[in-house]
Amino acid sequence: MEKLSSDESGISRAAALLTSGKLVSFPTETVYGLGADARNGQAVARIYEAKGRPAFNPLIVHVASAEAAGQLTQWTDAANALTEAFWPGPLTLVLPLRPDGALSELVTAGLPSVAVRVPSHPVAQAVLATAGIPVAAPSANPSGRITATTAAHVIAGLGTRIEAVLDGGPCAVGVESTIVGLVDEPRLLRPGGVPVEDIEAVLGAPLRTATNEITAPGQLASHYAPNSAVRLEAITAQQGEFHIGFGTVPGDLNLSETGDLREAAANLFAALHQADAAGKPIAVAPIPAQGLGRAINDRLGRAAAPRP
Ligand code: TXA
Ligand code: MG
Repeated sequence: MEKLSSDESGISRAAALLTSGKLVSFPTETVYGLGADARNGQAVARIYEAKGRPAFNPLIVHVASAEAAGQLTQWTDAANALTEAFWPGPLTLVLPLRPDGALSELVTAGLPSVAVRVPSHPVAQAVLATAGIPVAAPSANPSGRITATTAAHVIAGLGTRIEAVLDGGPCAVGVESTIVGLVDEPRLLRPGGVPVEDIEAVLGAPLRTATNEITAPGQLASHYAPNSAVRLEAITAQQGEFHIGFGTVPGDLNLSETGDLREAAANLFAALHQADAAGKPIAVAPIPAQGLGRAINDRLGRAAAPRP
């Protein structure tokens, strides 16, 4: 792992690593992020792998400007007002995804919306501007462990699993960004670095609070489950089924012919969409319950769960 200092050469090295699909931790004003190219499914899969996350939660996409965020999302008046007031800074907006967007579906966990944020930390700004790509970045700690607010925390938790950490000193805010959903009415999805009162003052109305349903166990499926029934552990397909294969189980399409779980994770949501579009019941080959296979099986289990 490379420890990079936050000078010009460190920043351009971090940007180059990100652009080539590597994992780089970088400082933001809230906490250190574990960054990867949000367009590159395999790079994003490595985030979940490095964090040891047992499920695919949607990730926040970091960009250098509101304009760049607007290219990924369907912008609204409320988004304008909030970003003029709080960007760059510790506010994340969840907006409808642009259908023509270039983001990996693993970033959004297959949802039709995406969380975007323009951080104010000068080092984060410089990396994002230099790389010129959207960067998916959850907090840079192993799943279930304490959030990292210094480069030393990052190295202690993830040092063996990432390519580099860019040292920008301790984070000033120390808690994650406030997340506001703008998919329908404005909703508070996560309290964080921008006080709720300040957001309400800009919106001129109280924010509806909502627990973030997306991340609550079992809820993700109701936001994107295939229309068709899903059958798991299917080594062969029954007549009329669309078969999603893995490794030596060929299928109508194969998540990874070489049995690579990272590649399978990167292909998972696109495969579910494609299978759903075929309008047939879906059968899915067994996926080993190790590494990223746990998160894949978690998602498949939700897709196969009985619907309300
Ligand atoms: O301060 C922060 O926001 C840090 C730094 C690194 O920027 N990042 C961070 O990212 O906390 P992350 O990926 O851990 O936050 C992801 C959270 C999810 O757990 C979920 O609550 C929300 O963002 N989220 C992401 N996409 C969403 C979506 N489409 N709909 C609803 N919530 C979403
Ligand atoms: Mg986190």
